Amino acid sequence: MGLLHWEDRYSVGVAAVDHEHRELIELINRLHAEATAQRSKDAVIGFFGDLFKAISSHFALEERFMREHGYDQLVQHKNDHERLLDEIRDLMEDYEASSRFDDRLLANALDAWFSRHFETHDARLHKALGAH
Ligand SMILES: [Fe+2]
Ligand SMILES: [Fe+2]
Repeated sequence: MGLLHWEDRYSVGVAAVDHEHRELIELINRLHAEATAQRSKDAVIGFFGDLFKAISSHFALEERFMREHGYDQLVQHKNDHERLLDEIRDLMEDYEASSRFDDRLLANALDAWFSRHFETHDARLHKALGAH
């Protein structure tokens, strides 16, 4: 079973962007499946690194898009991206310290963040400027 499932509430109202976000979720699920199949601490640490990279590169794309268009809420939007990346970093540090990997905790954190972020920041951005 995947870590995350696409939910209608994730939709930002622009089909091309929803498609990219679905691809990001699929990628996260693929990385998670590969790491958990290996059942080793190194694999889980590798997963956190790959997760961080996949999400950061999507954010970097959006942030470049906002900069190129002189988007008025770039700072607020970027701060919310940073908040999720910090949260993932914290979960990874907890894991490194305790060796306990709680799938559900991570899934809940990502799910709550994605639905809220997509519904607010990304919907506003893509309604104003279209697809990136
Ligand atoms: Fe996006
Ligand atoms: Fe965003």
